[in-house]
Amino acid sequence: MSFVVSGSNVIPFVGQVDAEELTEWMSALSSLMPGERLVPFSDLTDEEKLSAEIAIVANPHPDEIAKLPNLIWIHSVWAGVERMVAEFKDSSFDIVRLIDPELSRTMAEAVLSWSLYLHRDMPAYLHQQKNREWKARPYKKASQKTVGILGLGSLGATAANTLFEAGFKVAGWSRSNKELSGIQTYAGPKGLKTIFSKSDILVCLLPLTGETRGLINRDLLTLMPDRAGIINFGRGPIINKIDFLGALETGVLSHAVLDVFETEPLPEDDAFWDQPNVTVLPHISAPTDIQTASEIVAGNINNFRATGELPQIVNRGRGY
Ligand SMILES: NC(=O)c1ccc[n+]([C@@H]2O[C@H](COP(=O)([O-])OP(=O)(O)OC[C@H]3O[C@@H](n4cnc5c(N)ncnc54)[C@H](OP(=O)(O)O)[C@@H]3O)[C@@H](O)[C@H]2O)c1
Repeated sequence: MSFVVSGSNVIPFVGQVDAEELTEWMSALSSLMPGERLVPFSDLTDEEKLSAEIAIVANPHPDEIAKLPNLIWIHSVWAGVERMVAEFKDSSFDIVRLIDPELSRTMAEAVLSWSLYLHRDMPAYLHQQKNREWKARPYKKASQKTVGILGLGSLGATAANTLFEAGFKVAGWSRSNKELSGIQTYAGPKGLKTIFSKSDILVCLLPLTGETRGLINRDLLTLMPDRAGIINFGRGPIINKIDFLGALETGVLSHAVLDVFETEPLPEDDAFWDQPNVTVLPHISAPTDIQTASEIVAGNINNFRATGELPQIVNRGRGY
């Protein structure tokens, strides 16, 4: 391939992306790192595989990573890392994930859009139109509704601020205590019950870890206000699916917007497709922007070459 640029250090690009996307990544990254030799994994020589200390990865195949035995760290171009944490649990290299303000902005835009969708009863009006039903539904102001955010990290904190600026009451929940202007924050198991009990709309922006798997369960869902809505933009298995379908069928939840699922693409026979009060999205809430992500990745690698300092690494013990 013709992406290899002159430079002394080999950086493999290891990913399961199609040829067009690979071209985009290679061209954006190469132009930002003139001192590096960026090479798609399939074009590496055996000698280059041995010499690589850093790899840029996009959903990498573990067999390919295993062929790079001298890696010090890998930089993912995605934000979620649960697969890599599981697949590379015995590897000695560090994992760096994408933290990109543009990704946070895109996610906050999606959170605001779908929160407004639920807030303004759009699913109900869609249903009414199908039945040719002309009926105004009661209106409550945004300032009378609380949107709760599970996860106040780089995505959740930005989304919380965006919702606050749009006029909602906003509450947030994280592992450690946080202070965010205008946002009511909670932490730990007790705070979790509180945020469920006060959220008219609940947005999940948690990572998938041993602690968050199945976290959204029947006990918590029954604490929510009447006809609450849920948006899951984190990861599918954070929801206990049986409990969740039960809450949708019995009307404990009025509507759910789901962008992430245990199996993706969502299988044709999955129950979520047929659920009238579920909006299924094909994992589109915050796509990585290749240009801004490349700038972040290149900045981190250039800094490492200059100073020997790694960017913030994934905490394997916590799983995110
Ligand atoms: N649908 C999409 O298109 C899309 C796109 C990108 C990312 N995502 C998902 O979004 C997730 C979040 O991304 P991010 O960049 O915001 O991650 P992040 O910066 O690591 O933030 C994670 C947040 O979750 C909190 N958290 C984690 N485990 C917890 C626990 N057991 N109890 C309470 N709080 C917990 C963390 O608390 P502390 O702050 O106290 O550590 C932090 O506030 C990703 O992991 C990925 O799964 C989805």
